[in-house]
Amino acid sequence: MKNILIIIGLFFLVACNDDSDYVEVNEVLTLEIPSNFPELAYDIESNPPTEVGFELGRKLFYDGNLSSNGFVSCGFCHEQNTAFTHHGHQFSHGVDDQEGTRNTPSIQNVAFKTKFTWDGATEFLDLFPIIPITNEVEMGETMTNVLAKIEADSEYQDLFSRAFDDGEVNLDNFLKSLSQFMVMMISSNSKYDKYVRGEEGGDFSDLEVEGLALFQNKCANCHVSDIFTDDAFRNNGLAPDPSLNDLGRETVTGLATDRYKFKVPSLRNVELTEPYMHDGRFGSLEAVLNFYSDGVTASDTLDELLINDEVLGIALTEDEKEAIIAFLYTLTDDEYINDERFEEF
Ligand code: HEC
Ligand code: HEC
Repeated sequence: MKNILIIIGLFFLVACNDDSDYVEVNEVLTLEIPSNFPELAYDIESNPPTEVGFELGRKLFYDGNLSSNGFVSCGFCHEQNTAFTHHGHQFSHGVDDQEGTRNTPSIQNVAFKTKFTWDGATEFLDLFPIIPITNEVEMGETMTNVLAKIEADSEYQDLFSRAFDDGEVNLDNFLKSLSQFMVMMISSNSKYDKYVRGEEGGDFSDLEVEGLALFQNKCANCHVSDIFTDDAFRNNGLAPDPSLNDLGRETVTGLATDRYKFKVPSLRNVELTEPYMHDGRFGSLEAVLNFYSDGVTASDTLDELLINDEVLGIALTEDEKEAIIAFLYTLTDDEYINDERFEEF
């Protein structure tokens, strides 16, 4: 009996020794670019997502301590089940129940985009988180406070030390890890994707085929490529809302020629992301299409694509609208909104 115990004891000693010799490798994650997507816009070489960096970014994304009241995390406004939009909110809704003036856009395929926010306030994903964190009506916090809170947390210290070579809890690493999380957020497995890639599950009905053809003819000049945006700022003819007086791109450039221009949004998962437009003015896709056919308003900066022989808007019959909506529904990506990698944990 004694001998057996000694043997078991020895076994544990060896096992423990093995454990302490073990050097953890922080694996670089593979970012697969879907075959129907354009090239990456994000400089992945400068900040390749790693296993630990990604998990750190994910923890930060869902951490209310990034805001002044300890409650409003990025994930508070960007909810996965609606493609990371804020379901049921026309305007962003932040600390102390304050409302912003713009609708929360989806987060998906940001590694393929070069402009962020409705007016393109930044072109750099790595700098993006500073905007909501320091915005008074969103997270209402300072970067100094956020970093101090994180530095005081041993779990974060451990993650930073394993995620980055210098191991430091600093702004640079903080921003890099959030980018590592967000660049992995690729939505590319909708029925439409399977249809264009000829994969199983991609059989289109006649109505969907018709809708796609109409879309390519009437919408794809602006909602370009399989990202469904050209990342340009355009005025699509929404009548300005005097109570908001949102000048759009002009806010960033100061140019009157940019007045009322907003970034062309991606239409992926659009079935889930209502209300629509920068100010969430439309509650349904029917309302959006009725706007394009009958509601486009003239102004100095209205996009020329929406003026045909002096007629404003896009000519659409009721049947055509129905077909386009059927097509838009094929852009819903259930795998993306249920992907456990992006869930709160
Ligand atoms: C209070 C709600 C709210 C919170 C909290 C919030 N966001 Fe947002 N997010 C928005 C709104 C609203 C916009 C659009 C802002 C604009 O156009 O001015 C936006 C835009 C974005 C975009 C740009 C998407 C695109 O394609 O243009 C990204 C990326 C993003 N947020 C990531 C984050 C991250 C990361 C955090 C946490 C650090 C965060 N957001 C916190 C509401 C929020
Ligand atoms: C001239 C360029 C242009 C054309 C053509 C165009 N769009 Fe848009 N679309 C935009 C812009 C710009 C916005 C954002 C406007 C804003 O919020 O101020 C937008 C917004 C949308 C939205 C709201 C998305 C969201 O997340 O809020 C939908 C849906 C949409 N368009 C569908 C279509 C459809 C369908 C067609 C064709 C019938 C079409 N668009 C044609 C430029 C265009």
